[in-house]
Amino acid sequence: MKILFVCIGNICRSPIAEGVMKTKCEQLNLAWDIDSAGTHSYHVGSVPHESSQLICLQNGINISNQRARKFAADDFKKFDKIYALATDVYQSLISFCKTKEEQNKIILLLDELYEQKGKSVKDPWYGGFDGYEEVFDEISFACDAVIEKYKTAK
Ligand code: 4NP
Repeated sequence: MKILFVCIGNICRSPIAEGVMKTKCEQLNLAWDIDSAGTHSYHVGSVPHESSQLICLQNGINISNQRARKFAADDFKKFDKIYALATDVYQSLISFCKTKEEQNKIILLLDELYEQKGKSVKDPWYGGFDGYEEVFDEISFACDAVIEKYKTAK
């Protein structure tokens, strides 16, 4: 399974998702390819936000080697599942699609976690550290749900 997590800047939410999912896959011996990207280029080349790095470190995950990159059309070919962290990101990704097959790869991450569809991982960019703690937990539970659903897939 090849999974890409996408948010806006690729510095707050999707780097956490990448780090959390990679760690869970290692622990479970799942040979999945995991990456992340942003729909916008504001922060291309930057390390993850210091609060994203800190909340991950507090949970034993080092994401300091990640660098932000912008989503590219090629990603539709490279990945099996493209998880949007929020509905605005989902809409942007849909607008980049050229085929139905590409569209079918795009999934709202929290649709894997909650009965109620259409929820977004809140953007912690404008708030304090508690926002990052909330986001970490929600992303971690969503990753558990994804693993539970696809763990028998290669
Ligand atoms: P992210 O958060 O999408 O979770 O990485 C954001 C980071 C930066 C900006 C927006 C969201 N920005 O507008 O610069």
